[in-house]
Amino acid sequence: MKKLTAILLSGVLLVMLFAGVGCAQGGDNVVGVAMPTKSLQRWNQDGANMKAKLEEAGYEVILEYAENKVETQVSQIENMITRGAKVIVVASIDGSALSGVLEDAAKEDIAVIAYDRLIRDTENVDYYATFDNYMVGTIQGEYIIEALDLESGAGPFNMEVFGGSPDDNNAYYFNGGAMDALKPYIDNGQLVINSGQTDMSQIAIEGWKAEGAQARMDNLLTANYADKDIDVVLSPNDSLAQGIVASLKAAGYGSADKPFPVLTGQDCDITNVKMMLAGEQSMSIFKDTRTLADQVVTMITAHMNDEEVPVNDTSTYDNGVKVVPSYLCEPVFADVNNYKELLIDSGYYSESDL
Ligand code: BGC
Repeated sequence: MKKLTAILLSGVLLVMLFAGVGCAQGGDNVVGVAMPTKSLQRWNQDGANMKAKLEEAGYEVILEYAENKVETQVSQIENMITRGAKVIVVASIDGSALSGVLEDAAKEDIAVIAYDRLIRDTENVDYYATFDNYMVGTIQGEYIIEALDLESGAGPFNMEVFGGSPDDNNAYYFNGGAMDALKPYIDNGQLVINSGQTDMSQIAIEGWKAEGAQARMDNLLTANYADKDIDVVLSPNDSLAQGIVASLKAAGYGSADKPFPVLTGQDCDITNVKMMLAGEQSMSIFKDTRTLADQVVTMITAHMNDEEVPVNDTSTYDNGVKVVPSYLCEPVFADVNNYKELLIDSGYYSESDL
């Protein structure tokens, strides 16, 4: 009987060993890619580009989307650890909610690269790859200055300001870059914010939701613009711009005597490029996700080969525990004048997409 039990037990152990139960699985080339949501076009592109480029370079890829749910993202990362990922790339939902799971990753010696959004409050993030977030805001602010000819003293113009999701570190950089550029014109009265709302606690839109931006814009128009028109809206990204335009249309903007205000955005989502062509949105920041994906693949390959991982900024991104070595790609803006060259000629979109 004892012998039989022993045989059975060793059999079970053997099966567990082969199935990899209780220890990390996977070969030496597994990379996990955790993306926040499929609901925004850009993340679908980011994920698809990363997967294609990593596979081209010979890696096995686990790509997951978390429907903007933090718990889902945490369990997806846990799963990547169990499946033996050597590197995990994370575009976080809440940049401050991953400390626990990244401690588990660190125990397995897994390198973690924060993708587009900084991961905060943990030492277990090795690198950060993104577009220069402050510069995104600066370009939006400078676009407004140029569009309204503020340097020549034009104005006053009525403006309102929107902020991104409060749990996204990027949102503060976008806002900082834009407001630093616009501040002189707010201070001297060329730009008038009738609601008086400029603090992130007043202007941030949870989860970057278009509906949230639409609701806030409805309120702003009702409370402050019953007897005057709004001339300019600073929107940090495209999903918010969509909500803002829906609200403006409902309030009668878009005619010869009530034109759409100057409106910024970011991502060059197809919907928003169409809005630019229709005269509803003025510009959108173009962050070529192919460039970012290429850069991250280069960083992963360097790490896997024990070579120095290329970074170009070692001072800006303090995550609360350490300054995360970063690689910042350069954003540019697209509008009706240059979108063909930037978006079509470069093969990012085809004419028929638009
Ligand atoms: C990204 C933007 C994006 C926003 C909403 C930010 O972290 O940098 O490109 O529009 O999230 O998804």
